[in-house]
Amino acid sequence: MADLGSDFVVVANRLPVDLETLPDGSTRWKRSPGGLVTALEPILRSNKGAWVGWPGVPDANPDPIIQDGVELHSVPLSAREIEDYYEGFSNATLWPLYHDVIVKPVYDREWWTAYVAVNRKFTEATADVAAQGATVWIQDYQLQLVPKMLRMLRPDLTIGFFQHIPFPPVELFMQLPWRTEIVEGLLGADLIGFHLPGGAQNFLYLARRLAGQSTSRGSVGVRSKLGVVQVGFRTVRVGAFPISIDSGQLDEMSKRKDIRDRAKQIRKELGNPKRIMLGVDRLDYTKGIDVRLNALMELFEESRIDPEETVMVQLATPSRERVESYVRLRSDIEQVVGRINGEYARVGHGVLHYLHRPIPREELIAFFVAADVMLVTPFRDGMNLVAKEYVACRSDLGGALVLSEFTGAAAELRQAYLCNPHDLEDLKGSIIAALEQDRETGRKKMRALRRQVLTHDVDRWAKSFLNALSHGGVAGSALLEDDDVRL
Ligand code: ADP
Ligand code: F6P
Repeated sequence: MADLGSDFVVVANRLPVDLETLPDGSTRWKRSPGGLVTALEPILRSNKGAWVGWPGVPDANPDPIIQDGVELHSVPLSAREIEDYYEGFSNATLWPLYHDVIVKPVYDREWWTAYVAVNRKFTEATADVAAQGATVWIQDYQLQLVPKMLRMLRPDLTIGFFQHIPFPPVELFMQLPWRTEIVEGLLGADLIGFHLPGGAQNFLYLARRLAGQSTSRGSVGVRSKLGVVQVGFRTVRVGAFPISIDSGQLDEMSKRKDIRDRAKQIRKELGNPKRIMLGVDRLDYTKGIDVRLNALMELFEESRIDPEETVMVQLATPSRERVESYVRLRSDIEQVVGRINGEYARVGHGVLHYLHRPIPREELIAFFVAADVMLVTPFRDGMNLVAKEYVACRSDLGGALVLSEFTGAAAELRQAYLCNPHDLEDLKGSIIAALEQDRETGRKKMRALRRQVLTHDVDRWAKSFLNALSHGGVAGSALLEDDDVRL
């Protein structure tokens, strides 16, 4: 057990930065992809804690570094562990299972063995870093066994867990051969957070049904009601804490003259179209990039959108590039992009601009400022921070947000053009409504959306979770009084 160490430790699959090896063999750190890092980076900066995570490449074990006052501790993973634990169990088993089985999950016993072993590695690394009595906040589906493992190793710690992706309904979760182990792993935490009340309810039901049934050491009584699971003598609280972004910072940045000038320049570079539509995603099959491109193609075919007047930009960060379903997705998307431009572009005037790379933060904000219509169309998404980022960047009250009903964000952003991405006609109708909205309607909608995003920022999210975590003795009903926490 550590004598010294940090009082506040975040544990996530990835560090907020990935180690990158340059062609000359030297290394440097670059920002990691995804919403988890976007959300947690500002919190750790203000809490000055430690972050335990994988540095993003095989076999790297750099010494701890301090970045913006945060200690970064690496958990090294071998190439085989990355294949089996990260690409395999995390992203070819749990990810599709938790996202409505959009692709078929693979159940592989060796991947499970690797998941257990790597969760133990993260547990041991965390136990070494956390001070006596520290608060440890474990993140996401890659580390669902860590709460229980850590409690057994370090009963002095206060342990929180937050799930950044949906938590599936019983009908799907019950497919998982290791369903009981996962539920019991999570129940090692003092507080388990989900984005939406639905995820919390799913978990509460499954905890009642599955936990406490293991037999080797007899059964532990598990009861659950009103956001509280009683595991023997221990109380585990479960709640919904919708995550957000550093909306104030984005709002400020989007007003900067250099960024507004860049937004104008982007419009010019695109040929000064009447309307710019934008998509910004990790290249992931959950995001519905294919369905929005199909909608665009049909709208061109039906002459409901004029390719001379409307241009679309799709920014797609490479993601999980060795997982088979992602390889297939990339090739499918690139085929549709080629087809749309083949049919509707002319020399010097592309109608669909597709960039397969991460875009620097300031450039991304300029794209948000430039876009007249933002398309966020996932088939399923725990929250979707891109939708909130777009809104935070529109202090001019311009722009329109087309948003899938199947995102966590849709529960808060009710004034968006909500759509069902499984229904192509509905999606096309929402795109047209957003493109054709009159100025006053647009301003009214954007004002309401911004009120929500600016008052519910990531700091409020973290405080509401960490306050609930530190008031461990308080019964679940206290959680019900906080309007950020819905059970
Ligand atoms: P997820 O966590 O599934 O990746 P989110 O929408 O919640 O999805 O978060 C994605 C984060 O990654 C956002 O902060 C978004 O701005 C960023 N992002 C997505 N695509 C790109 C891109 N092409 N370039 C740079 N950042 C991106
Ligand atoms: O919340 C979704 C999530 O899997 C995060 O855990 C992660 O930071 C992000 O998406 C990006 O995914 P990956 O780390 O697999 O590149």
